[in-house]
Amino acid sequence: MLVLDQTHAWIDQAVQNITDKMHWVSDKSKLKIPYTTLQGEHDDRATNNPSGDEADGINWWTNGFWGGMLWQMYHLTGEEKYRDYANLAEDKLDQSFEKFYGLHHDVGFMWLPTSVANYLLTRNPDSRKRALHAAHLLAGRYNPVGQFIRAWNDIPDTDTRGWAIIDCMFNIPLLYWATEETGDPRFRHIAERHADTVMQSFVRPDGSVHHIVEFDPYLGGVVQTYGGQGYENGSSWTRGQAWGLYGFMMSYRHTGKDEYLQTAKRIAHYFIANIGESGIIPVDFRQPEEPKYEDSTASAIAACGLIELAKAVGECEKNLYLNSALKLLRTLFEERTDWSKDCDCILQNGSAAYHSATHHQSIIYGDYYFIEAILKLKGKDLYFW
Ligand code: GLY
Repeated sequence: MLVLDQTHAWIDQAVQNITDKMHWVSDKSKLKIPYTTLQGEHDDRATNNPSGDEADGINWWTNGFWGGMLWQMYHLTGEEKYRDYANLAEDKLDQSFEKFYGLHHDVGFMWLPTSVANYLLTRNPDSRKRALHAAHLLAGRYNPVGQFIRAWNDIPDTDTRGWAIIDCMFNIPLLYWATEETGDPRFRHIAERHADTVMQSFVRPDGSVHHIVEFDPYLGGVVQTYGGQGYENGSSWTRGQAWGLYGFMMSYRHTGKDEYLQTAKRIAHYFIANIGESGIIPVDFRQPEEPKYEDSTASAIAACGLIELAKAVGECEKNLYLNSALKLLRTLFEERTDWSKDCDCILQNGSAAYHSATHHQSIIYGDYYFIEAILKLKGKDLYFW
């Protein structure tokens, strides 16, 4: 557990603000699974499918985060309403198993913060079954020749059979969990092979990471890389750096393998070296001067990973990671949070991708990771990754 050397009044204030805001927002949005806000109100991605794609709507990759926020609050406060609302969101996700053709590798993002969290706290047997079902689906996406997990299904006019993406480092903890839960090592073998491939093919010499790497799906081996949600091929999409940083920490937590810890450190050092004076994180560390976009979600995710790193290393190294996390979070708290009743989300100025039509919006995973990070600083987070 993390012990801070000194008290920080703003962290206590953040916990209080989170508790107050989640109290009314959870009542207001209990029947939804939000992704963003529209005129300040949570949308409902469980019933809306803006793109009409099979991977959207109930299969949308972010649909686990609302449940995750509710489980964090249940763990923090013990208030039963959070458990009941989280169960409502988790039950809805069963529709995704029916809509299997639209499911993708992000089943970890969907069922770790919902079913695994639920099972950890309540031993609900239905939650265990759902999480194991999702783990089997994820394992089924493994390409044993290329030793990677396929990310997405077909995109029009694009052959994605060989595509893997850095974000999947957050899905493979579902495989580690499945092995820990069942005693069957097959899931962990797949998770480790995938993590090893990412270590070799995604992490660049300076510690930055690619978003997308395409492998030959028949022979294995790298075919090419893509910039994905970042500015361009070879640039460094900040949320991808954060997925990599915290993702390798998770693999380290599950396996104890030093190479995963060292990889997390390399990505962290790159990230820390690029945090500017303002503490505001851009969408891409190599984006041009204009147009300049920021992404608060990358900041919150990276802060979570940095805190986990601080917990894993000795006293001498700890402060580098912890102070960087505190800088990111304090900047978010003071400059990018909305605690008013005008907005159902907390964090402002998230950006899904550099080339998205919309930037600087509230996004549910920004709220989720901000809450997780603040609770980590108080030693009160629920860890289910
Ligand atoms: N996992 C997709 C994203 O981070 O936007």
